[in-house]
Amino acid sequence: MVFMTASSDPKVKLYDLHPPLDDFRAEVLAGLGRLPKSVSPKFLYDKRGAELFDAICTLDEYYLTRTEMAILQTYAGEIATLIGDGALIEFGSGSSQKVRIILDAMPQLPVYVGLDISKQHLQESCTQLAKDYRGLEAIAICTDYTQPLQLPDIPAIGNKHKVGFFPGSSIGNLEPQEAVQFLKNTALSLEEGDLLIGVDLKKDKAILEAAYDDAQGISAEFALNLLTRINRELGADFQVENFEYRAVYNPVGRIEMYLISLIDQVVHLGDATISFDAGEQLQTENSYKYTISEFQKIATLAGFQSKQVWTDPQQWFSLHYLHLASQ
Ligand code: AVI
Repeated sequence: MVFMTASSDPKVKLYDLHPPLDDFRAEVLAGLGRLPKSVSPKFLYDKRGAELFDAICTLDEYYLTRTEMAILQTYAGEIATLIGDGALIEFGSGSSQKVRIILDAMPQLPVYVGLDISKQHLQESCTQLAKDYRGLEAIAICTDYTQPLQLPDIPAIGNKHKVGFFPGSSIGNLEPQEAVQFLKNTALSLEEGDLLIGVDLKKDKAILEAAYDDAQGISAEFALNLLTRINRELGADFQVENFEYRAVYNPVGRIEMYLISLIDQVVHLGDATISFDAGEQLQTENSYKYTISEFQKIATLAGFQSKQVWTDPQQWFSLHYLHLASQ
């Protein structure tokens, strides 16, 4: 592990745990060789994909972001009391818009820890947070937070009570058994701490399908960008116009997102030849939706107890405050 200061601000420290790089080619080839074909959603987020996802978050149809932010705003005081003088640890240090709602409610918070695989992004967001919140020490840990992780010994954390923060309902992009495993991994980093996590709720199919297939076609562009990325980075020859995006609610409790081949076609990727039948699906993502009790069951399987749940007036989104039951 390498430790260094992440910026000219001594309140920002970087711990680089050197996460292994994904083997993009091998994973794409394996996914395209499967039936049904699929590619992991983690590959949707190249530079353009991240921009498109940010645009999705501002769409009228994509209620998740604004609803979760409204819940955070409404209950920031209660959340601040539960966090107390702990160390706040964000899994996936995103645009940090959401964590700022918490920080605004607790200017005395001494330590923020951001975990992210993208070092540059992480450094930028931690540096900005340390600048905007003068009493805050910001620790950036470059790591793949989806893997089991024991936090390094960080003096600023000491034996502070650790509170994880995982907003955005990103847990929904995991299969339920993977969600349990992910929560068990976070439990390892949090020791006896707590976890504040955003989870999208089950609701009317039409609302869900519109959220994932908006009128402007940004969700479609986001999914199709995966093919453009594979062409650019791996030299494949996908004809993007020969695929169409579809988002369908499966009543088992998930939105399924696909690219559908519009014709019989053959795609080349290095030495591999991949054929698609007309109408064949390439799955890009699942986004699971839970009831409050379904999610609490998942959390319990990972060793957490529910301490508090907040929702919005329409009950579209939930924010869970979980506590790790001692083993
Ligand atoms: C990142 N994740 C929580 C989004 C979701 O709602 O499942 C990804 C997404 N894909 C298309 N729209 C949004």
